[in-house]
Amino acid sequence: MAQNLSRKILAAHLAQPSQMRPGEEIYLKVDQTLTHDINAVMTYLAFEAIGLDRTQVETSVSYLDHNLLYLDHKTPDDHIYLQSAAKKFGVHVSRPGNGICHAVQAARFGVPGKLSMGGDSHTPHGGAMGMMCIGVGGMDVATAMTGLPMRLKMPQIIKVNLTGRLRPGCNAKEVILEMLRQNSVKGGLGKIYEYVGPGVSGLEVSDRVTIANMGAELGATTSIFPADEMVRKFMKAQGREGEFVEMYPDEGCDYDGELEIDLSRLEPLIACPHQPDNVTTVRQVEKKKVQQVLIGGCTNGSYKDIARAALVLKGRHVHEDVSCTCAVSSRQIYKQLLRDGYIEMLIDSGVRLLELACGPCCAIGQSPATEGVAVRTTNRNFKGRSGNPTAQVYLTSPETAAACAVTGTFSTAEEVLGESVADLDKIAEPDIYPVDDSMIIKPLTAEEASKVEIVRGPNIAPLPVPDPPEQRLECRVSLKTADNVTTDDITPASAEFSSMRSNIPLMSQYCYHRYDPGFAQRARELGQSIIIGGENYGQGSSREHAAINPMYLGVKAVIAKSMARIHKGNLVNHGIIPMVFEDPRDYDRVDQMDDLEIENLRDQIAARTVEVKDKSKGLTFKARIELSDNEVEVILCGGQLRYLKARLKEINSYRP
Ligand code: F3S
Repeated sequence: MAQNLSRKILAAHLAQPSQMRPGEEIYLKVDQTLTHDINAVMTYLAFEAIGLDRTQVETSVSYLDHNLLYLDHKTPDDHIYLQSAAKKFGVHVSRPGNGICHAVQAARFGVPGKLSMGGDSHTPHGGAMGMMCIGVGGMDVATAMTGLPMRLKMPQIIKVNLTGRLRPGCNAKEVILEMLRQNSVKGGLGKIYEYVGPGVSGLEVSDRVTIANMGAELGATTSIFPADEMVRKFMKAQGREGEFVEMYPDEGCDYDGELEIDLSRLEPLIACPHQPDNVTTVRQVEKKKVQQVLIGGCTNGSYKDIARAALVLKGRHVHEDVSCTCAVSSRQIYKQLLRDGYIEMLIDSGVRLLELACGPCCAIGQSPATEGVAVRTTNRNFKGRSGNPTAQVYLTSPETAAACAVTGTFSTAEEVLGESVADLDKIAEPDIYPVDDSMIIKPLTAEEASKVEIVRGPNIAPLPVPDPPEQRLECRVSLKTADNVTTDDITPASAEFSSMRSNIPLMSQYCYHRYDPGFAQRARELGQSIIIGGENYGQGSSREHAAINPMYLGVKAVIAKSMARIHKGNLVNHGIIPMVFEDPRDYDRVDQMDDLEIENLRDQIAARTVEVKDKSKGLTFKARIELSDNEVEVILCGGQLRYLKARLKEINSYRP
């Protein structure tokens, strides 16, 4: 039977036979795992606690790429811990300065048809080269590293038919912003977007990564492109053509839905504060004075992206009221840009070159000014994610961002370049990249690894482990949130906060710090509590600290109108019961500090419907538990770590 590409790859990785009906629980064998420094300490602490001596997947890579501002001892402590843990457990390390995880992973480890799980929501980046790449929480990565099959609710596969060709001055960013404009930040929940059609062949891998990476903002499980001649070209340029595998959907295959985008009709787009789906055209957006521009990041930090931005800036200067920085996504791209003269163009125009790291994208440096207007080529513009909740962050392509840097207001590349905008189209990815893997530390042999001591500085605190739920829960509502609360709201980003992520007692004091500064103390004083959430609770970054910190503060359950996929998984892994209101109108009836009571909780969890008494209001409402049998088992065990330890014998039976 003819199959689409997504089903082909998933079917090839099934650990148990399945019809793969959308919504059904499937179990998948994982080929690759990816972690990065600001989420990974918890992953490797969990892997240590499980008790295995080596990763059980083909390739595991630990990236030290997010927080390279060593403000004090904490982040270097984390990096030393991570490097020693990687040596112990047979994991590659990409050292600080080698580049941003997703760019390096695709370039140096990506193989069409493989299945990768990464502890970062933008892991789908690798879908650009025909891989199935799924973002999960850090505990899920630790689980994948044990060799146990990963559970996934079978997504719907949506065909996105691309036709036409992008106009000069437009970027693949326009495609994903158009997807967001049409489908919203919730539109991709439970879906894989499979891009096909005649427009695909005109997009290089560097264009496709922008679309696949930012599919995360649609809430999608992942996005994928065929492994075609463009992927072969990319892998050849990486000196890895031998690993290329051609992969297409079968002729006449079925999909669960279909969308169409004509690339030639797109014009430069811009996502306005504070959601990536708040999209309009650059032409129509209200003109404002721009204070800051950031070019690069994992979404738009490719050779072509930076070179095109440099060409817009060539012979011009960054406006005197604008601070313009550039974060190239990897060392090999930086070297090629240097050879081709683009770095000089950036320097001549007054652009400040940053480290080869995520940096400002997750508020690690370069915060905008008070009420500053920032134009960024990254993927998220949530309130506060830039490090300053008063800032207004707009998302655009590198071409548009460079034009804004020159004019000091919202402008397109065409407005700056006139007819020469057509020259931007002449820039293509190199035929050969200056590959140099000297910043990747290869895994040790098992014998060498057995002698490695894991180094733990004072910032590495033990991983807190929750207790299993009891039969009766009586507690107050410690927080009631609005719709679309992000994991950035729950666990704020910044160089300072990121460096606390290995130390939960310290970091939990800042839980919901920017959203409700009184939350942490209130939750602690209550001892145990429940959070009430709106729609799409926990959207955004995969950071599992948005589950660990509330758990540490005594939060036992979240009852929301709806919940984002990765965050729901993180809540389960860390023993917080995720529930959704059976009748969403009950959300309006419950208030912060209401006294709630649940009897026979364990039995009700198993039955998937929980009756909650609101003693303050004298009413009762029902909440659903939309979890698989396996997830229910995990919750009743008190989280994934207790569950895995209980299954260590079975895990060992998977080992060769
Ligand atoms: Fe880093 Fe931002 Fe990408 S934090 S991985 S550059 S989304």
